[in-house]
Amino acid sequence: MIFDANGESNRAEESKLSRILVIGAKGMLGRDLMETFNASSLNDVTGWDIDEIDIRRKEETVERISGLQPETVINAAAYTNVDGCESQVETAFAVNAEGMRHVALGANKCHSKVVYLSTDYVFDGTKCKPYVEGDPPNPLSVYGRSKLQGERYVQQLAEDGLIVRTQWLFGRHGNNFVSSILRQTREKKELSIVDDQIGSPTYTVDLANAISALIECDASGVFHVANSDYCNWLTFGQSILKYSGINGVNIRAISSKELNRAAIRPHYSGFNCRKLKEATGMTLRPWSEALKDYLSSCEKFND
Ligand SMILES: NC(=O)c1ccc[n+]([C@@H]2O[C@H](COP(=O)([O-])OP(=O)(O)OC[C@H]3O[C@@H](n4cnc5c(N)ncnc54)[C@H](OP(=O)(O)O)[C@@H]3O)[C@@H](O)[C@H]2O)c1
Repeated sequence: MIFDANGESNRAEESKLSRILVIGAKGMLGRDLMETFNASSLNDVTGWDIDEIDIRRKEETVERISGLQPETVINAAAYTNVDGCESQVETAFAVNAEGMRHVALGANKCHSKVVYLSTDYVFDGTKCKPYVEGDPPNPLSVYGRSKLQGERYVQQLAEDGLIVRTQWLFGRHGNNFVSSILRQTREKKELSIVDDQIGSPTYTVDLANAISALIECDASGVFHVANSDYCNWLTFGQSILKYSGINGVNIRAISSKELNRAAIRPHYSGFNCRKLKEATGMTLRPWSEALKDYLSSCEKFND
């Protein structure tokens, strides 16, 4: 909200602002989205998380969104425990699919644009070439199925829907592969990492900027957004150690079968992000550069 010198709200200035609502605002991506949108004085940004809105509740969600009258609602709230989803099927669908339906219904009431964050896990990984937006999905996990259902609700219900599929996120504000590897190096001298899943690690700061650019150019439909270049988790892990200057920790390559996680992941889920470039002119930097930036921002943050 903008106030003048007397503390009065300035309606003329406010009318020029773009009102943006971020749901899931305390999550890893949500916090970077808040920072990105708050960086522009042209935005009036509201952030809600589970304490302010539980998207599983239809009436509450529809009323709160339509009461705020945002121009854009970004739904970054999700049940993101991929393995946990296998046993918590009801919760996975209640948050990731039905929650999205409720958000879309609320957004329609005030004719807002709706942005939904989706995942590479909607694909089965058998293509072995970078996936384009039109490739047929075939999720292997409950998480992937619940997110695909969320996408379908956006496509069926939203007056103006933007679906951003992304993958392998790391960022300063949440637990992720990088923070987990760094933590493990403080406790162990040998780490086991899978080498048979390929994708693109993606920095939440870069993703938030791309989402902002897509909204700016009023994009709608499905977009793949990830940092450039592909790798497997083993290479990603080795790079984390190398760029952090950590020596004396051995990394052992294992297979997904050996790791035996509850949810099956696609073996290949690289994205073709040409559509993002065509719409915004943007190509996200290589994941290795983004990783170096993230690691140096962690150092700065810890000082
Ligand atoms: N992380 C990845 O690698 C990845 C990859 C591809 C796509 N995505 C998608 O990107 C988006 C952001 O992911 P992220 O890793 O930033 O997620 P995250 O850190 O887990 O954040 C999600 C936020 O949503 C909140 N939330 C959970 N249930 C809710 C509910 N019923 N109502 C309102 N808020 C709720 C969570 O609160 P609590 O923490 O209290 O539960 C959390 O603050 C998600 O849509 C995810 O599916 C993530």
